[in-house]
Amino acid sequence: MHDFLRQLPKVELHLHIEGSLEPELMFALAQRNGIELPYASVQEAKDAYDFNNLQEFLNLYYQGMNVLRTEADFYDLAMDYFHRARREGVVHIDMHFDPQAHLQRGVPLEVVMGGLLKAKQDAEQSMDFSVGMIMAFLRDRPADEALHVLEQAAPYWKLIDAIGLDSAERDHPPEKFTALFERAKGIGLARVAHAGEEGPSAYITQALDLLDVERIDHGVRCLESSDVVERLRRDNVVLTVCPLSNVCLKVVDGLRDHPLPALLNEGLNVTISSDDPAYFGGGMLANHVACSDAFGWSEEVFTQLTRNAINAAFVSEGRRADLL
Ligand code: ADE
Ligand code: ZN
Repeated sequence: MHDFLRQLPKVELHLHIEGSLEPELMFALAQRNGIELPYASVQEAKDAYDFNNLQEFLNLYYQGMNVLRTEADFYDLAMDYFHRARREGVVHIDMHFDPQAHLQRGVPLEVVMGGLLKAKQDAEQSMDFSVGMIMAFLRDRPADEALHVLEQAAPYWKLIDAIGLDSAERDHPPEKFTALFERAKGIGLARVAHAGEEGPSAYITQALDLLDVERIDHGVRCLESSDVVERLRRDNVVLTVCPLSNVCLKVVDGLRDHPLPALLNEGLNVTISSDDPAYFGGGMLANHVACSDAFGWSEEVFTQLTRNAINAAFVSEGRRADLL
């Protein structure tokens, strides 16, 4: 089964590129940029990745990305993950990135976009691989700041596929960003949002009704409301579920308690992603292997989950036909 999972051409719809920053690269970039890290060694960093909730993770996630300063840093970050993912049999990634987290530190948008877009271009030219671009907005920052950044990104609108909504979910409901998502829709961008990870199932409904999203990132708490489950099933909304992330952030007690089998039983449009692979114990292959070990799924189940992801990926119809 593990061989099958490695060979399976996998599609990842939910990946924060800043969350793919392995401690080894963090140390290399810190040295390149003359930055002191709060860890004495790679092992010390790895030992610190022990979280009780989303906020504890976010604190280290924002701290870790402080080593990203130049276009070359963003390029190296993305290329490092693309190569690793390709070796695990991944053929497409829809990549979230967090411009506000970099702007706040004085890193210009052009530096972030320059590095990431060059990595996308080089990866697509040098291997059987494609990359979708999701400009994510931080829900624990003010809504007008997000609108301003979206306007500032005008030169890149044609080069990105979608906007997303991430960061601390509790007490930051989707409705706060209604105007942002309306603007993105007007520009012609697709829309996705994290909802129902730590936040209540009502946030999933809000994201669908008020933000008009076509995918829900996580969404595992939908099972707390039969109405929300019914809505997701009726509209065939894709859920980008991240099993190892949910375990590491204590959204579930353990993988065997994960609602993935229940979501499948409900007939929902489920996909599997890694979220922040450098922090949560591995990428797409590790997530697939963990699901295989915990749930004993057949090859057909994994094939269907992959097909779900291909159908929802931000790719041209030609590329989609190649992937199917
Ligand atoms: N940013 C990076 N990873 C995230 C997650 N799992 N949830 C919310 N925001 C994030
Ligand atoms: Zn996420």
